[in-house]
Amino acid sequence: MFAKLGIDYCCHGNVALKTACDRLGLDVENVKKKLMEESPRGKDDQSHLADLSPPQLAEHIVQTHHAFTREHVNMLSPIVDKVVRVHAGHNPKLPEIQAVFRRIGTEMLPHMDHEEAEFFPALAVYETLAKRDDLDADESQRLNRATHVIKENLKSLAEEHELVGNLLAKLRTAVDDYKMPHYACATYRHMLRELEALEQDIKLHVSKETGLLQVKVQHNLASGVERVQA
Ligand SMILES: [Fe+2]
Ligand SMILES: [Fe+2]
Repeated sequence: MFAKLGIDYCCHGNVALKTACDRLGLDVENVKKKLMEESPRGKDDQSHLADLSPPQLAEHIVQTHHAFTREHVNMLSPIVDKVVRVHAGHNPKLPEIQAVFRRIGTEMLPHMDHEEAEFFPALAVYETLAKRDDLDADESQRLNRATHVIKENLKSLAEEHELVGNLLAKLRTAVDDYKMPHYACATYRHMLRELEALEQDIKLHVSKETGLLQVKVQHNLASGVERVQA
């Protein structure tokens, strides 16, 4: 959907959705609505996302996309290994496909662990404390710490998203746009289908974090900055 509208949403998508829409003369609310409606996961679990708070959105991302990626990386590892063993003679690019797939796993798994251990808990602390005006010294310190963690993570996570976007593009080139080769056996076909499903899910995952979650977080930080510094 982003591609259809000319918005670079994954590889270099760390530009706020509103800025991207303004630049293209698009209505941001309309784009968000379309994003929800046209996602690969269908309409059922998407329509409410724009109204969620950052911690609620983070929880949705963990339950939906982090779970999917962990499961898919584990499930695909032996399948990719098997296809490389059996079909190396058919396709000389298979070792590269295997290497890029492994790299995606070694980037995404710690990235998601880090979000769950540091970034998302900081969002929850911020959400609870930034609204209050009766914080004691300990709570003020926790709020300042959470704000610092959020700002630091916004930078580092964006860099990691860009890296994964580049790896997905590299994988897509190596698998020739997921075209099914004539010699593909059932395992090979399964591998290509599931690698593409992984790609689509990671792109949707990153677009939610970049286009929805980070936009909300940056907005909250901007409106709460005076309170945090007070
Ligand atoms: Fe994530
Ligand atoms: Fe992420």
